[in-house]
Order: sequence, then structure tokens, then C-alpha cells
Amino acid sequence: MRIIGTGSARPSKVVTNSMLENFLDTSDEWIVTRTGIHERRVISSENLEDLAATAARNAMENAGITSEDVDFIICSNVVNEYVTPGLGCVIQGMIGATCPTMDINCACTGFIYALDVAEAYLATKKDMRNILIVCAEEPARMMNWHDRSSCILFGDAAGAVVVTKGDDLKAIRVSTHCKVEALYQKRKLQPTPFITKEEVDTEGVVMNGQDVFKLAVSSSIKDIDKVLTMAGMTADEIDLYVLHQANVRIIESIRHFVNQDKSKFPFNLDRYGNTSSASIPALLDDLNRGNQLKTGEMLLLSAFGAGFTTGACILRWSM
Ligand code: UT7
Repeated sequence: MRIIGTGSARPSKVVTNSMLENFLDTSDEWIVTRTGIHERRVISSENLEDLAATAARNAMENAGITSEDVDFIICSNVVNEYVTPGLGCVIQGMIGATCPTMDINCACTGFIYALDVAEAYLATKKDMRNILIVCAEEPARMMNWHDRSSCILFGDAAGAVVVTKGDDLKAIRVSTHCKVEALYQKRKLQPTPFITKEEVDTEGVVMNGQDVFKLAVSSSIKDIDKVLTMAGMTADEIDLYVLHQANVRIIESIRHFVNQDKSKFPFNLDRYGNTSSASIPALLDDLNRGNQLKTGEMLLLSAFGAGFTTGACILRWSM
């Protein structure tokens, strides 16, 4: 597998920490110190599918292909206004593609899972040339905006890549360890005349921040160790660690474990917050368009999220 194009799109509404101070018992100082986040983008008038289609078009343009060249679309998404069909179907129509689409919900780890599926499809399906991966997320719509410990963390975004056959993927690992209670949201479904059980609506995400923090650091460290071993590489041989943008303290803990310089850890969490599975592909797009990625560089990607899902991979940048 080889990445040949990247794209991203973000909502226009900037929500700063001081704007949150207007309706939450919080402060810019607390949020910056505990998370590294200064502001995030939150959907106001946009539709998530518009952001997703823009990110997809940008990635196709960057790859030098049109929608006719796309053979499969993988869409990573947790929540959007459509319960059905899958967001991938909506994106397919918007960009004028005719290929099959598949949605996955692996929370913030979705991009790594999507790469794993893409690698398997490219390896086993002869006619498969280009796969479009679109990660489109609006976690802001899942939050209880009275819960200061969770709503301050998230922002909305879409990130996309086009992948084709190649041998840039040196190692990949995904895993799930059922820990629903650490981070979840339950909602009531449509009532029927037959329902007798009691149903719960948590009215937003329920998160044990400290548990998620510990799980995030311990699982990412394990994943990174494993993919380095799988690829026969050392931490020093990685040029950039492109990590899920959730909390600067989580990134710092991982950085200390691999004992690498800060300059190897690109970062945009300060401006966008945690955008779930869109965070890594959107960061890759920022780096690509900012000419911060050099051909031949080795990147290590690592993410974690509700589930508890985790994943990491090592890939050579060859654009
Ligand atoms: O993709 C996965 C998504 N989730 C995550 O990445 C979450 C991972 N966890 C975290 O990032 C951190 O645990 C948080 C940022 C959520 C919280 O930071 P913490 O250092 O673990 O704080 P804490 O939960 O230990 O809370 C410390 C204090 C508490 O007050 P008391 O009990 O000491 O009086 C909280 O009520 O900070 C309080 N607090 C706040 N204060 C001001 C919690 N949120 C806020 C807030 N503003 N926004």
C-alpha cells in the first residue's frame, strides 16, 4: 500500500477556550495546561457530508485522480445525521464515484483500521487500484455541553487519503480490548408497541478521563513497541511520530517512552482539539501541504479510542 494523496476540511466556526468560559466553569489556563488545546473548530451551519466530500475531493486532486479512478471508499465515522445509509454512500454520490463503499466505526482509531482494511483489499483483489479513505467526524454533536471534563476536548473535521498498490506499509497492528465503561454514549431508539425493557439515554458521551488517559498511554506504548519489532526498526529510525491528537500530555508520555526529540512529534491539537478518527489524516494533510514530509521518511502512526480500540503502523512516505 502507498499513500498518493491527502485532503482535509474543517468547519469555519472557531471556538476558543475563552468562549467556553462563558457557559462552563472552566478557564483557558486549565484547558491549556491539562490538554494543550487553545481552540477547536465546531460545526455550525455546515453538514458533515460537505466537509467529507471536500476532504475527499482534495485528496483525489492531490493524488491526480478523478472519482472514476476510485475503486472503493472506506468511510470512518462515529456519528452523523444519517442513521442510514452509511456516510460513505452519501460521499460517493457527492463526489460522483460509482464504486462500492463501506463505513466503519472504530472511534478515534478508525483511520488505522481503515488502512488495515485497504491493505488487505489491495493485496487480495486484482482489479483494485485506488481506495479512498475518508474519516469524517462531528464529536461535538455527541457531547454534553454542560460536562466540562469532556466537551472541551473535541472538535469536528474530515481527513482523507487515497491509497494504491505499493510497499510503503512496513507494519500494522490493530486491537480491541472491551472497556465500554471508559468511554461511551447510549441513546434511546424509536419506541415500538412491543418494547418492555427500560432504555437509557446518556444525553452525551460518558467518559472516565483518567481511565482513558492511562489506557491511551499504555496501549499506544505497546502498539508502538510491537510495530517497531514487526518492521525490524528502532525508535531512532522513525522520522516522524504522527499520533492521534487527543491530549498533549498523552503525546508527551508516549514521547518520553520512545525517548525521541519533540521535533519528531508534529502537532495541531492546539488549534483543532481531538477530531476523533479525522485527526491523523487531517494532520497528515497539513504536513503534506506544508511541505513538511520528505520522500523516503518513515512515519509511525498511532491512535486509540472508545472500545477500547487501538492501532499503529509504520509507513514510508513516498509522495
Ligand atoms: O480519543 C479519546 C478521547 N478521550 C481522551 O483523550 C481523554 C483522556 N483524558 C484526558 O485527557 C484527561 O483525563 C482530562 C483532560 C479529561 C482531564 O484531565 P485530568 O488531569 O485527568 O483531570 P481530572 O479528571 O483529574 O480532574 C482534575 C480536576 C477535577 O476537580 P477536583 O475534583 O480536583 O476538584 C475536575 O472536576 O479538574 C476538574 N476539571 C476541570 N476544571 C476546569 C475537569 N474538567 C475541567 C475543566 N475546567 N474543563
